[in-house]
Formats: sequence, structure tokens, C-alpha cells
Amino acid sequence: MSDLQRFAGKDILGVGDFDRSDLAGLFAETRRMQRIVRERGATDLLRGRVLANLFYEPSTRTSSCFLAAMTRLGGSVIPISEVRYSSVSKGESLRDTVRTLEAYADVIVLRHPEVGAAKIAADAAKKPVINAGDGPGEHPTQALLDLFTIEAELGPVEGKTVTFLGDLKYGRTVHSLARLLALTGARVRYVSPPAVAMPRPLVAELAARGLEQSEHAELDEVLADTDVLYVTRVQKERFSSEADYETARRGYRVDAALLGRMKARAVVMHPLPRVGELDESVDDDPRTAIFRQVEYGMYVRMALLAAVLGRA
Ligand code: NCD
Repeated sequence: MSDLQRFAGKDILGVGDFDRSDLAGLFAETRRMQRIVRERGATDLLRGRVLANLFYEPSTRTSSCFLAAMTRLGGSVIPISEVRYSSVSKGESLRDTVRTLEAYADVIVLRHPEVGAAKIAADAAKKPVINAGDGPGEHPTQALLDLFTIEAELGPVEGKTVTFLGDLKYGRTVHSLARLLALTGARVRYVSPPAVAMPRPLVAELAARGLEQSEHAELDEVLADTDVLYVTRVQKERFSSEADYETARRGYRVDAALLGRMKARAVVMHPLPRVGELDESVDDDPRTAIFRQVEYGMYVRMALLAAVLGRA
């Protein structure tokens, strides 16, 4: 099992920072956090430590999840989610903002609309930077919580089929989770409107890493063999025209009738927010894990914060 100590002081920029033994170590620590929260609600492991939560893009789950995770670890949070009201709106560079925040905080969580922003911030800061989504790039903490969810619901993912449905072009959670799955011996299937297919360079990268993947025009080609159905919304904010967005989003919707054609033992996931592609009629199905996924995210981020701050 890996020594989570090696993450002390480290940036978390993408899932490439993890190998299989790191995942085992992180998930063991995640289960420990889950027990702590269930038994006592909180711990003082990170008492006196401060997290700067710097969000240049909208967020409900990721920002409040980091806030809850840090609070339950006994630490506190500087929340900056309305950069409109911060000096960023005066034209301050990301580098200067980050250098300022690290004078106050021990760790910086950053969400930004541009690919590579987390790397720029990490290069500017001495303190650890955690990437909470860099445009269509990566969203490593979401992928970690997604993988934890799959294994909590179905056991080891090795040999299982994970079907990604939706916006595979701009969906950063898909990019990160597919990369993580390349470590695990899972099979992946891609189903998307043609305009938002999985990026070619990423498919090639994953093939080189030995991931078994295939692309399909219709969900029904793979539905009966699917163990994990991972649905995503079309990332409207990444489109330059409303018409292109409308074309991309046409044609897929998961509802209770569709779940009726899936394995009895399966899991349906979505990083949320959903905007019509995952109908509420699936919510009462025990295979739908979207809100358990949200909860596991807090334990995963608690484990990660403890690791990065040298207390795992
Ligand atoms: C996702 C994101 O921001 O990439 N949301 C999240 O963090 N759970 C997915 C999305 O916005 O569609």
C-alpha cells in the first residue's frame, strides 16, 4: 500500500499524479474519513489550517464539498467564488492572486475556465494547488470520487464495463476518469453526439496506456453489457454558438425505461449538474448513485486534503 505521506506539500493537477497503490492508500484513508464523519461528524486533524477556495467558474458541489471537507477536518476556508468582486476583475493576474492567497492559506483549490490554469498557479505558488477543474482539461478530484463510488457500489472495477454517455469532448470529468480507469483494467465505451466525441489525441493516449475502449453511435449497442453508466451534460459554456450547442445536445436522455434494459446489478452516475439528460424518473432506482456519489466526494476530498497537508 502506498504511503500517502508522499503527497505532503504536493500539487494535485491531474490524475497522472496517482498510481494504483496511491489509489488504494487514498481510498483506505477515504473510508477512515467516512467512519469519522458517520461516528463523530468531524475531527481536528487540520485544526488551524486554512484552505483558499478560488473559483473562476460556477460551482455548487465542488466548492461546497471542499468547504465541508476542510471544515469537518477542523480547518477553515477562504471562499472566493465571485471573482467579479475580487481584484481579478481589476485585471490581476492568476499568478499574483495565487501568490497573495498562499500568504494566508496552506492549500489552494482552483477552478478556472482555461486548460493549464492549475499548472500556471502551481508554478507560481510554493503551497500545494489542487485542480478543481481547468476548462475542458482535467478534474482529478471528481475522477477520484467517481472511481471510489464505482468500487463502493460494485466492488473492484477491473473487468467491468464503464460506458460514458454525453459530452466527451469538453467533459473534463470524463477525461480524468478515463485516464484513471486506464490504471485499473476496466473496459470503456463511448457514446456521444458526433459533435462532442472523445478527443482523438486522448483516445490515442489511452490506447497507448492499454485501455480497452470503443466508440458507439447508439447506447443500445452497449447498454446490456454496461456495469457503470456515466452520464454527462453537454458543456454549454464551451460552445461559441447556441445553434451548435442545441445540435450537440439533441438525442440522448436516460430515463427509468432505459434503466429497465440494464443489468440488475449496475450503477448510474453523473457528475452533476444535470440539465435534462438524466431524467428524475431514475432517482428512485437503487442503481442510481448520483447523490451517494456527491457524499463520497466529501470523504475523498477530506482524505486528499489530509494527504496534501501531511496529516494522512
Ligand atoms: C462537473 C464540472 O464542473 O466539470 N461538475 C462537477 O464538478 N461535479 C461537470 C459539469 O459541469 O458538467
